[in-house]
Amino acid sequence: MAFKHTQLETNSILLLVAILVTVAIGGLVQIVPLFTIETTIERVKGVRPYSPLELIGRNIYVREGCYNCHSQQIRPFRDEVERYGHYSIAAESMYDHPFQWGSKRTGPDLARVGGKYSNDWHVTHLIDPRAVVPESNMPSYPFLARRDLRTGDIADHLRALRLAGVPYSQEMIDNALADLRAQADPEADSDGVKARYPKAVIGDFDGDPARLTEMDALVAYLQMLGTLVRFGDYTLDDLRQ
Ligand code: HEC
Repeated sequence: MAFKHTQLETNSILLLVAILVTVAIGGLVQIVPLFTIETTIERVKGVRPYSPLELIGRNIYVREGCYNCHSQQIRPFRDEVERYGHYSIAAESMYDHPFQWGSKRTGPDLARVGGKYSNDWHVTHLIDPRAVVPESNMPSYPFLARRDLRTGDIADHLRALRLAGVPYSQEMIDNALADLRAQADPEADSDGVKARYPKAVIGDFDGDPARLTEMDALVAYLQMLGTLVRFGDYTLDDLRQ
């Protein structure tokens, strides 16, 4: 046996083949079982695709590079959970294209910032962070409140995400523009948008009911982050679908 092993170790080709076989066995043991399950992400109650207004807000979030300073991923460590809330689970970002995880935190994690502050607070903070947090080094984004929201291509955004696997129905796509406007107008009939996107927060987010601005969309997005899954008293087993 020892003699055979000497042969194996001194013949580089033979050794290479043996290494490949060994590594392949290890790889197959890990990979093959995954082919037998439909998805590696467990479906969890409450997770839904973004409403049209939230989706544009999310696009603005990505456009402005907010992810350069903010992660959206709470790790399962005690200090993180005590500060930010329940650790993030995969299902919560299953409709994110691209996802907003990350490890760069110049500012705090935003995975559960929804409902933590009022709309007014967000608007004031985004226009001038130092107005509410004097020591903040976050940039100011006053132009968001001045820029009209471009809504013309919203149905196309939903269609594109559907191609990537987000379950937007034809009804959601057909009503995209109407839902977008209804969510930002507390006076409008919001039954449709609430039925299609449960827990959607309705409101005039930027404090200017006469206009639909980029600020409206971004604040709508921030206000829903982390609000879809009700962790509360449930355990993860209760939440699985
Ligand atoms: C240069 C880094 C930087 C960038 C870019 C940045 N932020 Fe911040 N952000 C911070 C810092 C630092 C704080 C903590 C101080 C404060 O509240 O202003 C913060 C705080 C926040 C908070 C409050 C979080 C909490 O739990 O108190 C929100 C909401 C927020 N940022 C949203 C955004 C959005 C939206 C964008 C993009 C439009 C953005 N930030 C871009 C650094 C940044």
